[in-house]
Amino acid sequence: MPQPTSVILGIESSCDETSVAVVRDGHEILANLVSSQVEVHRRFGGVVPEVASRQHILTLNPLMAEALEAAGVGFGDLTAIAGTHAPGLLGALLVGLVGAKSAAWALGIPFVGVHHLAAHIWANVIADRSLPLPFLCLLVSGGHTALVRVDGPRAFATLGETIDDAVGEAYDKTARLLDLPYPGGPHLDRLAAEGDPRAFAFPRALLHEPGFRFSLSGLKTAVRKAVEKQRLAGLPVPVADVAASFQAAVVDVLVAKTIAAAEAEGLTTVALAGGVAANRALRQSLQAACEARGWRLSLPPLDLCTDNAAMIAGLAHAMLATGEPDALWLPPHPRLALPSAPA
Ligand code: KG4
Ligand code: ZN
Repeated sequence: MPQPTSVILGIESSCDETSVAVVRDGHEILANLVSSQVEVHRRFGGVVPEVASRQHILTLNPLMAEALEAAGVGFGDLTAIAGTHAPGLLGALLVGLVGAKSAAWALGIPFVGVHHLAAHIWANVIADRSLPLPFLCLLVSGGHTALVRVDGPRAFATLGETIDDAVGEAYDKTARLLDLPYPGGPHLDRLAAEGDPRAFAFPRALLHEPGFRFSLSGLKTAVRKAVEKQRLAGLPVPVADVAASFQAAVVDVLVAKTIAAAEAEGLTTVALAGGVAANRALRQSLQAACEARGWRLSLPPLDLCTDNAAMIAGLAHAMLATGEPDALWLPPHPRLALPSAPA
């Protein structure tokens, strides 16, 4: 049965990006504006939560007006408002969430609270409506690293997570060690392409352990020790080689565990999600591994991989198609497991 047209305004404010998007019928992105605070936080070498909240307050209303204008729709055309309610920085979440609820209340339309990580994963479905469910998703962002079985817009099963640092965090910390600017992921990615991935034998933690847990803090320490050794010996740090060796260690583990998890679950559709999904080596390596098995791999476009509100509005559409809107008292949560209702 065809669903009636939905025009959903989504708001994302869980970390250091304010984003507002307008999405029609869950797939057609009419506007997806992102206002990054990276410059504001750069001098601190990471995101300062209170500064992030205040910046969201300044940005949100003008960005909503801009997004509606870019989408060519008015408030009266909207059928629902969605906002990220978890996980993330509490104050930052609160700003976007209050904005979303207030707009929904004022317009008398449904409000949907969206899980940020579920939305990262759902970016794959938004970009490709033919993507078959269930699929296995490797979620790699600045704050999270997980292998997730996806059965529906409200049904996610976490098969394994990192026990310490997230992959993006490991990239950012390693980049900082090498005196690269924040956020370091893209810089390391670029440098790695020029280096020798076999120059340093960095550890592949938990690679041969059963289960799908990840550990990245040992790798970060190994890189620090290698860099210190060079510096103490008065030798220049071969930055590109360190970057390439670090990246090879990360990608080896991520790809091996993803393939093993898909096999264990009997899934032949694999997807990548989160900011680190922009990483070229990871995309290439996963592509090769899936191709070799005749599996389908979904790689969302880069603007849907990093934090954005189109993923929030798109998932809200699918959630409304399979369940009820949320009450206006839905609270923000800094930490919250993925929704896991039966599909
Ligand atoms: O998903 P995201 O935009 O924000 C979170 O929800 O965390 O992910 C941001 C993370 C940062 O750690 C950034 O360094 C990393 O994604 N990142 C990359 C690349 N582009 C962004 N890491 C490795 N290679 C990249 N090309
Ligand atoms: Zn994110």
